[in-house]
Parts: sequence; structure tokens; C-alpha cells
Amino acid sequence: MKVLVVGQGGREHALVWKLSQSPAVSEVFCAPGNAGTAIDGTNVDISADDVDRLVKFAQSEEIALTVVGPEVPLVAGIVDAFQVAKLRVFGPSKAAAQLEGSKVFAKELMRQANVPTADYWVFHDSHEAVEFINGREANSFVIKADGLAAGKGVTVCKTKGEAIHAIREAMVDRAFGEAGRELLIEEVLVGQEVSILALVDGRTILTLEASQDHKAAHDGDTGPNTGGMGAYSPAPFATSEVMDEVIQKILIPTVHTMRKRGTEFTGVLYAGIMLTAQGPKVLEFNVRFGDPEAQPVLMRMKTDLFELLSSAADGRLSEFADLEWDDRAAVCVVMASEGYPGPYEKGRPIRGLDDAAKLPDTKVFHAGTVQHGDQVVTDGGRVLGVTALGSDITAAKKRAYEAVKCIRWDGAWCRKDISDKARIMPPT
Ligand code: AMP
Ligand code: GLY
Repeated sequence: MKVLVVGQGGREHALVWKLSQSPAVSEVFCAPGNAGTAIDGTNVDISADDVDRLVKFAQSEEIALTVVGPEVPLVAGIVDAFQVAKLRVFGPSKAAAQLEGSKVFAKELMRQANVPTADYWVFHDSHEAVEFINGREANSFVIKADGLAAGKGVTVCKTKGEAIHAIREAMVDRAFGEAGRELLIEEVLVGQEVSILALVDGRTILTLEASQDHKAAHDGDTGPNTGGMGAYSPAPFATSEVMDEVIQKILIPTVHTMRKRGTEFTGVLYAGIMLTAQGPKVLEFNVRFGDPEAQPVLMRMKTDLFELLSSAADGRLSEFADLEWDDRAAVCVVMASEGYPGPYEKGRPIRGLDDAAKLPDTKVFHAGTVQHGDQVVTDGGRVLGVTALGSDITAAKKRAYEAVKCIRWDGAWCRKDISDKARIMPPT
């Protein structure tokens, strides 16, 4: 059977790689893909938001399952278009994707479902938002643009001045475009962050192994926010007690309330969780696999991903009692272009990919790369997700950085401390 993955980042390369391992799958296409998805699958020159052409391609190739990687086409309604065309697709409908597409929608749903999350206030007017900040006793706030902002619409502010600046940036300067029409102000939560992802078919919820992202650009979680500079799995903070609490208090009420209000959720429900002193609280929901979390998580998954996602798309997820996992740990180190998350240049030739590919238990997932003749060159801010398995997190980290050392291009950099946060908590 043929499969189509929509998207072009590291997450999509990991999806292509994992789906191609299924005995039931004959070919995996990726639209538009990158230089790595062309190695493990076949690239199709259609952009991820060109829904009409994607539907036509899926029809003409008789695609058995389409898996949508990024949030933008999901929020725009790609799943609805595939379903109208009677094509099997894994992902939430446009209405359900609002859980990520509108932070105000997500917050209202959480309030309705009694899901623990940060206190919040919604504003449509920048003056009112500024007045609110000036009238509070607290000094720290989180300012969030309502809509999608490519991971950039959230500012954690330590002073009232910073908060007022962030409000103006979002609402007056419209730094995130239409996403800043509505604004959320949240209380600041403190704790360790974990990413808990679950497959959902409307009713049944199957959690994946937990992972931890590294959103800040520099070591020690300093510097500007990025799309994620690395991730590892399992996350020791997500003990079985924490997982139970997240399932009972967060995932079940969310999925139940989504169904009750007529926006049944199918796809990946990604809960970004802060483990606070009062227990796990939701920072945000995403409606897709995390990037880079998908890379280490899928590297550890033993269950047939094609069977799993097909079952979810068909509403048959309850047929899977449990998922099978590699007991080993996986660490993914993102290698980025000079200047990222600010402006950067593209087109730098990458050397050493073949040497890295020879290392055992290592997979270099491509994110922002493109093939130019016989050369792979950089084509994005996050360029590669160098991922390795090891007997424990320390061993996986060592192996991943060995592979990183093989790879060079002009201006390449990465964080040196991916997975070190795991050591903050002694193993139980
Ligand atoms: P989001 O895109 O909503 O996940 O926000 C991006 C990052 O901002 C999160 O991963 C957190 O590190 C941080 N963040 C978001 N909301 C809060 C909050 N209420 N308290 C503290 N940090 C937050
Ligand atoms: N790694 C964070 C995200 O995928 O949104």
C-alpha cells in the first residue's frame, strides 16, 4: 500500500522513515519533503498547503493513508478535504484543530473540561491589556498571541515593561500578523516541561512514551525561543503516576469534551505539560506530532506505525491494547544554521552525512535540507535532527554527539546539553 506524508521537516522525515518499515507499505511519498525524505521515500513537488493538488495526487496514486505533519494545513482544513474525497487521512478536522489554531479556544475548552492549566485573561484591545498589567500585583506574565505564529507568538515576561512591550508587539505592530488580533495573558507556571503525546480516534486514547523538548536556543535553556533544539525520550519526570494523572485529569476530559461539543478529535493530541508543585498543568495543546519530539519517540517505537495510524483514522484504535517500545533511550540533537532563530542564509553544502550514517543505532533526520546536484545543502533554520539510541540517556547522548561531530557546514551549530535536564531528577 502507498502512503503520503505531508510536510518537509524533521518530523516528516521521521514519519517517512518509520512508515516505510511497515511490511504493508510499498511506497512512502512526501510532499514536498527534503533531501532526507528522498532517501527513505519519494518526494512529490507539491507544497503542504496546496490541498487541491494533494487530494488529486492521493486519488491518482491510490494512496491508502495520508499523514499530515504540520499544523498549518491541519488548521486550514486539509483533513476535511481528504474526507470529502473519501480518502483515508490521519489528523484532526479543521474544527478540532482549533485546539492548536486558537489558544483562546483551547483555554475555553480546558475551562469547560476542568483541565488544570495556567490562569488566563483574554483581550481584544491593547489598551485594556496594558491597563490590566499595570493594575496587577504580580510582575511576571506570559503574553500569547491567539493564533498560529510558527512557535513565536509566546513571550514569557519577567517585568511589567517586558509584558507591555510584548502586548504592543503582538497587537499594535502585529508582529505575528492576524494571530495577534486576540491576546491571552497568563500566569507564569514553574517546573519541568514534558511533551505527552497521545493517539486519539475520537474516543480511544493511546499515549506514546513521553519526551522532553529544548525550546531555548542556547545551553542551560538560555537565549531566544526556537522551534526546538533537541529532544529525548523517555523523560524521567513523566513517571507512571504523572502519566496516570495526565491521562485522567487532562487527556480524557479534553477528548470527552471535544466530542461533546461536536468537534470530535482524531489525530495526535500533544499536551505540552508543566509539572508544577500543584501537579501537571497544560501549557498548550498541539494537534500533531512534535518536532523534534517525533524523532526520538519514533526511533523507539516498535509497533507498526502504518497499522497504528490507519486504525486511528478508521476509529479502530481500541484494537491496540498497548504499544511496543525499545527499552533504550533516544536523544535527538538539532543542528541549525548560523543566525537561527533570527535570519540565516541557505544553500551551504553539508559534509560528513555519509560518515554519520555509518555509526550504529544512529539516524540523521533531515529538516531544512535540499539536494542540489550531488550535494545536500542547507535550506532552513533547523537543518538536521541527529538522533541516536543508547542503553541509557547518557549513552544515547554520547552517540548522538559523536554523529554530530562527523557533520560540518559553514556556520553549523547546536546545543551541547541536550538531555542533561534528565539528570536533574535522580532515577527512581
Ligand atoms: P507554547 O507555544 O504555548 O508552548 O509556549 C512556548 C513556551 O513558552 C512553552 O514551551 C513554555 O516554555 C513557555 N510557556 C508557555 N506558557 C507558559 C506559562 N503559563 N508559564 C510559563 N511558561 C510558559
Ligand atoms: N517541539 C514543539 C512543537 O513541536 O511544537
